[in-house]
Amino acid sequence: MQLHFTLLLLAYYCSTHIAASGGNGTTVQCLADQAAFLLQLKHSFYNPNLSSWQQCTDCCRWEGVGCNRASGQVIILDLSDRNLRSIGGLSPALFNLTSLRNLSLSGNDFGLTSLPRFGFERLIELLILNLSNARLFGQIPIGISPLKDLRTLDSSYNIGLYFNEPSFQMVVGNLSNLRELKLNDVDITRGGENWSNSLANSVPRLQLLSLDACGLSGHINSSFSRLKYLEKIILSQNSISGEVTQFLANFSSLSTLDLRYNDFEGQFPTKIFYLKKLRSVGLSWSNRLSVHLPHFPAENSLELLHLIGTNVTVSVPSSFVNLKSLASLALSMGEVADVTIALISKLPSLQSLTLHGSGSEKPNFSWISNLERLRYLELAY
Ligand SMILES: *[C@@H]1O[C@H](CO)[C@@H](O)[C@H](O)[C@H]1NC(C)=O
Ligand SMILES: *[C@@H]1O[C@H](CO)[C@@H](O)[C@H](O)[C@H]1NC(C)=O
Ligand SMILES: *[C@@H]1O[C@H](CO)[C@@H](O)[C@H](O)[C@H]1NC(C)=O
Ligand SMILES: *[C@@H]1O[C@H](CO)[C@@H](O)[C@H](O)[C@H]1NC(C)=O
Ligand SMILES: *[C@@H]1O[C@H](CO)[C@@H](O)[C@H](O)[C@H]1NC(C)=O
Ligand SMILES: *[C@@H]1O[C@H](CO)[C@@H](O)[C@H](O)[C@H]1NC(C)=O
Ligand SMILES: *[C@@H]1O[C@H](CO)[C@@H](O)[C@H](O)[C@H]1NC(C)=O
Ligand SMILES: *[C@@H]1O[C@H](CO)[C@@H](O)[C@H](O)[C@H]1NC(C)=O
Ligand SMILES: *[C@@H]1O[C@H](CO)[C@@H](O)[C@H](O)[C@H]1NC(C)=O
Ligand SMILES: *[C@@H]1O[C@H](CO)[C@@H](O)[C@H](O)[C@H]1NC(C)=O
Ligand SMILES: *[C@@H]1O[C@H](CO)[C@@H](O)[C@H](O)[C@H]1NC(C)=O
Repeated sequence: MQLHFTLLLLAYYCSTHIAASGGNGTTVQCLADQAAFLLQLKHSFYNPNLSSWQQCTDCCRWEGVGCNRASGQVIILDLSDRNLRSIGGLSPALFNLTSLRNLSLSGNDFGLTSLPRFGFERLIELLILNLSNARLFGQIPIGISPLKDLRTLDSSYNIGLYFNEPSFQMVVGNLSNLRELKLNDVDITRGGENWSNSLANSVPRLQLLSLDACGLSGHINSSFSRLKYLEKIILSQNSISGEVTQFLANFSSLSTLDLRYNDFEGQFPTKIFYLKKLRSVGLSWSNRLSVHLPHFPAENSLELLHLIGTNVTVSVPSSFVNLKSLASLALSMGEVADVTIALISKLPSLQSLTLHGSGSEKPNFSWISNLERLRYLELAY
């Protein structure tokens, strides 16, 4: 309390001091209260690696800080990748910076403390909230749910973050302007099997969805077809079952589809391969998923195709040579035929190749020298 008061007093004193000695009236310097909140935040770290954050200087010029120069309010706070270690979790002073639009605390160490349940709701102007890789723990706070302008939410890669039922529905349900949602490693199992329905009914403008290793199960609900602006869908390392839904072939902006390590079954919709913007398809290790490789058109931008551990039903088509951009290929087949090898050895951009299969009895590896860009080669089984 005393520290807070002293900081505030100092900040007020400094700001009048600076204004008197310099300002030309066209730009406003950092407001005294904003500087005081930032200094409080700085003092909540063991190792405040923020040397420019000094009293009696314009806080709008401090590293990681950006202001609205008309109002003097702090609107950007980017503390990413500074290895800051906090003393007692997230300082409440943060939530007094109520004009923040971009906030990143990614790449720091909050010492496995929980996020406060409430506080975030005061940052009502936030567009970007990045809490990834920050050693945070516990339930995703429902204080995030009123942030209706939020465009980007990333809370990936913390040790023990989770959504409680019904918090997933509550938090996501209100973020209707969200464009990017990254919750990799966040445990959503307690949010129930309704995750796809919740998203479909809440975040219609979503462009990036990344839910790697979230403990998801159940089927993808057909309502998911509403998320037609999706460009990247990453659902790898979950236990999602059922068919890969046909409507994905209607997502005309889709560039990345990563469904690896799930329990999908049935026929993968071949039409998805014809999407014009498609660059990356990962289906490996859904053992009961059948994939029929199409005739690839000459105009295509596929860069990654991972089908190891799926049921590839036909041989590699001759149009494979059209995959001029393909940099990474992983295939498993009952028999890797010479004709397949001949096609693969003509792929000019290939950097990474994984082939699992019985192969030929007298392997002839001379074709490898055709692949001038190859850096990784795996020939197993
Ligand atoms: C006022 O000060 C700011 C920053 O110190 C400077 O960028 C701007 O050009 C100045 N304007 C005038 C009219 O001198
Ligand atoms: C201090 O922060 C900078 C980023 O501005 C970072 O590159 C550097 O590694 C940090 N130093 C320490 C000791 O963490
Ligand atoms: C900062 O926020 C707290 C509530 O978290 C409030 O009690 C306090 O008055 C605020 N400080 C200022 C100076 O606005
Ligand atoms: C802040 O967010 C805006 C809006 O998304 C974005 O254009 C800008 O690049 C971001 N700035 C920083 C420094 O993160
Ligand atoms: C969050 O910050 C990390 C580290 O700076 C960055 O790698 C990641 O892409 C950011 N997330 C989003 C959604 O921009
Ligand atoms: C959702 O947002 C509205 C205002 O936009 C707010 O009144 C309501 O409390 C929010 N719901 C939750 C669960 O936060
Ligand atoms: C599933 O989600 C929908 C839409 O968000 C909701 O109306 C419904 O009640 C949820 N069902 C269950 C069983 O939670
Ligand atoms: C799928 O969504 C429909 C309509 O939104 C809903 O009635 C149904 O219960 C959902 N199915 C599952 C398994 O959640
Ligand atoms: C794809 O879109 C077309 C035209 O909008 C529509 O008729 C069709 O039913 C959609 N297919 C699926 C599987 O949703
Ligand atoms: C592989 O696909 C074929 C043809 O679709 C099918 O008959 C077979 O049962 C599939 N195998 C597995 C393990 O799903
Ligand atoms: C290996 O294949 C190349 C090209 O197909 C051929 O020229 C060469 O003679 C073969 N080597 C052996 C030992 O069969």
